[in-house]
Amino acid sequence: MKFTVLSLFPEIVDTFFSTSIMAKAVDRGLISVNLVDIRDFAADKHRTCDDAPYGGGAGMVLKAEPLAGALDSVGAAAKRVVYPTPSGRLFDQKKAVELSAADELVFICGRYEGIDQRIIDLYVDDEVSIGDYVISSGEVASLVIIDAVYRLVEGVISGESLAEESFTGGLLEYPHYTRPQVFCDLPVPDILLSGNHAEIERWRMLQRIEKTGRNRPDLLKRNGNDES
Ligand code: 6GU
Repeated sequence: MKFTVLSLFPEIVDTFFSTSIMAKAVDRGLISVNLVDIRDFAADKHRTCDDAPYGGGAGMVLKAEPLAGALDSVGAAAKRVVYPTPSGRLFDQKKAVELSAADELVFICGRYEGIDQRIIDLYVDDEVSIGDYVISSGEVASLVIIDAVYRLVEGVISGESLAEESFTGGLLEYPHYTRPQVFCDLPVPDILLSGNHAEIERWRMLQRIEKTGRNRPDLLKRNGNDES
């Protein structure tokens, strides 16, 4: 799967792709990244990419022409284009699974108050918000989405890890322990040392239900697991 990322600060995105599991997935040829500096498509010698909004108001808007130039340079008209924005549809695991089926995704990293609406009208397939709060960096928002998507690509992470993690089956994950057996007077639950795999599975499932009820009762309700 290929991730094409259009940004005014491509080095932020580059760092992420050069590190950790992400870099391993790139090395193994499972995913690839194409970073495009929007500023390379600015028309003037100052490489201006923003301007004041028509109609007045606070902040600056990312201009249409440099963005269109960057989008055209990667053939975006024929590709799935994702624009992360706080005014998009809420991103969730279901959306991540849906996006992970694409051969290529093109991400537009906004800055300032947003991008010219005509770019959205002409190019964007998915306007996606990562949550009900505002962050200033479209790069960070894109990376949140990319991280959720690339790990679902076949071969990046073991199927077993994916099956057990939070949100699979609408429940949060069970608690994890590793050595030492006692830490700051807190022992690992006996059941995990018992070697009884059926009982361990049962305990983990109960922990998942209990934790979901405590931290995310809305998930239990949504999945019809709640009496109330
Ligand atoms: Cl996708 N971008 C920004 N900048 N802020 C956000 C967001 C996205 N989703 C929630 N807040």
